[in-house]
Amino acid sequence: MFDTKLLAASSEAIEEAASLIRSGNVVGMPTETVYGLAANALDEDAVRRIFAAKGRPADNPLIVHISELEMIKPLVTDIPELALKCAEEFWPGPLTMILPKSGLIPLVTSGGLDTVGIRMPSNKTARALIDASGVPLAAPSANLSGSPSPTKAEHVYKDMAGRIPCILDDGQCAVGVESTVVTFEKDSVRILRPGFISAEDLKAVCDNVIIDKGVVEAVANDAVVASPGMKYKHYAPKADVTIIDSSAEDFKSYCSALSDDSVLMVFDKKEAEGTGHDCIVYGADSTEQAQKLFDVLRQLDESGVKKAYARCPEKSGVGLAVYNRLLRAAGFQVIKL
Ligand code: TXA
Ligand code: MG
Repeated sequence: MFDTKLLAASSEAIEEAASLIRSGNVVGMPTETVYGLAANALDEDAVRRIFAAKGRPADNPLIVHISELEMIKPLVTDIPELALKCAEEFWPGPLTMILPKSGLIPLVTSGGLDTVGIRMPSNKTARALIDASGVPLAAPSANLSGSPSPTKAEHVYKDMAGRIPCILDDGQCAVGVESTVVTFEKDSVRILRPGFISAEDLKAVCDNVIIDKGVVEAVANDAVVASPGMKYKHYAPKADVTIIDSSAEDFKSYCSALSDDSVLMVFDKKEAEGTGHDCIVYGADSTEQAQKLFDVLRQLDESGVKKAYARCPEKSGVGLAVYNRLLRAAGFQVIKL
């Protein structure tokens, strides 16, 4: 058990966290997407501590975070031309590229796979922590396995108090949903997990952007999937969430007819007016919804809500990332009106 410290991300605090990382510990690290649980990606024991703190299945690989392009070379055996273009266009930023791993990356880090996900975050604290640690940092989202990803240091504290020695607090994450995860095929980029860097954005570097079908479809538990994370039930709030795919008008009449005490997740509180239900606003547009979604899911849990109906996000641009997360939170329950 640790007496977990929540430290404002000053340069002294970053140095303290880096020294914990150098001695094989796990620390809570802010990034522009969500908070991560960071440890030395090259140290098997340190990486095992990440899996233990999260309660994460051992076959679900971790993303390795770097602070400059030079750091990638010893970690992979090949960087396709398209990957270099993506790095140039989108790094530092919320894009993770799956590449063939070198022997330097332990199998514990890659979940037994021969590939590794690499990303260069843009958050200044994350970059300073990588620099000060002097090693690439493996970091999954800093939630307990199965809980919504943390977008505030308090969320990390709630899930990780006692499990890790320290959390760097850098306020609310700017993006709010995890990075876009891509693989490269001959002339195409395949999105395994949508994020702030959208399919439309990726078209700037590649004509052929494929959205993997796991992005919007449920994957059977025994299925072989490109990204192991796709098969696990994610972001599961305690409330039973249903997505209503409809116009605002139809949403309102559907919810008005519900006789239970369910809560409505809406873009604007007007959409719940007169329905007889309480509501929680999760953002007027896709960017705001991405920022707020996980916090709203945590609020639902804290207020003990049993049933929630959510307006359906856009299914393009950043909206696809919001839809992908909400679908999982809803256990794929969608009512189309
Ligand atoms: O924004 C983010 O990516 C955050 C911050 C902390 O950087 N990290 C994050 O990590 O979301 P995690 O572990 O919660 O999600 C990583 C996802 C999982 O779905 C995992 O299966 C997939 O990326 N992944 C990682 N390495 C992979 C690999 N070698 N091949 C396929 N999928 C991989
Ligand atoms: Mg995660």
